[in-house]
Amino acid sequence: MLPRVVTLAQMLLDLVLCEGDYAIDATVGRGYDTAWLAEKVGPTGRVLGFDIQAEAIAHARERLETAGFSDRVTLIHAGHETLQDHVEAVPLVKAFMFNLGFLPKGDPTQVTRPQTTFDALTQAFPRLAQGGLISVAVYPGHPGGAAEAEAVLAWADSLDTNLAEMATYTPLKTRQPSPWLLVVSRRR
Ligand SMILES: C[S@@+](CC[C@H](N)C(=O)[O-])C[C@H]1O[C@@H](n2cnc3c(N)ncnc32)[C@H](O)[C@@H]1O
Repeated sequence: MLPRVVTLAQMLLDLVLCEGDYAIDATVGRGYDTAWLAEKVGPTGRVLGFDIQAEAIAHARERLETAGFSDRVTLIHAGHETLQDHVEAVPLVKAFMFNLGFLPKGDPTQVTRPQTTFDALTQAFPRLAQGGLISVAVYPGHPGGAAEAEAVLAWADSLDTNLAEMATYTPLKTRQPSPWLLVVSRRR
């Protein structure tokens, strides 16, 4: 069975993440990915997570507490487009995870948007470590989703290929428009 885009994102990030790394979950939601990142970076690593919904942050905080990861994670109740106000240029970040759209069974108006997603990705790349990865799970199916997908592609197109290599993964002949994954790796 082929992996879902979010599973593939974890599989690819798993190849680069090591104990002690610094990782960012740009869309915390219920904190599944945040907890996964926290486990990967271990007790000496650090994870920063962003979400615009207080409810999502509270939910994720509970999950992290239960898992015993609270001391290695900082949750920020703000949009990822404010990333540069919260993330120092050093230490460099090994992995950024963007899982776009809205929370399943949550408020569909609390959704990622083209311009803020573009801004956050633009701020993320200069902070990415050599060999690090940015994963972006894109959901073009909801209102505004197609425009956001365009914005993600425009950002990828803006990257210098001397510095970045990138790939997409798109399930075919499945629900349309299908979610898809973009991964960007920093060469140097
Ligand atoms: C698909 S969900 C993320 C699911 C999450 N990765 C998980 O493991 O549960 C998308 C999340 O992005 C959040 N979001 C929307 N706009 C945002 C923004 N500008 N910055 C950060 N998070 C945002 C939503 O509130 C929602 O919780």
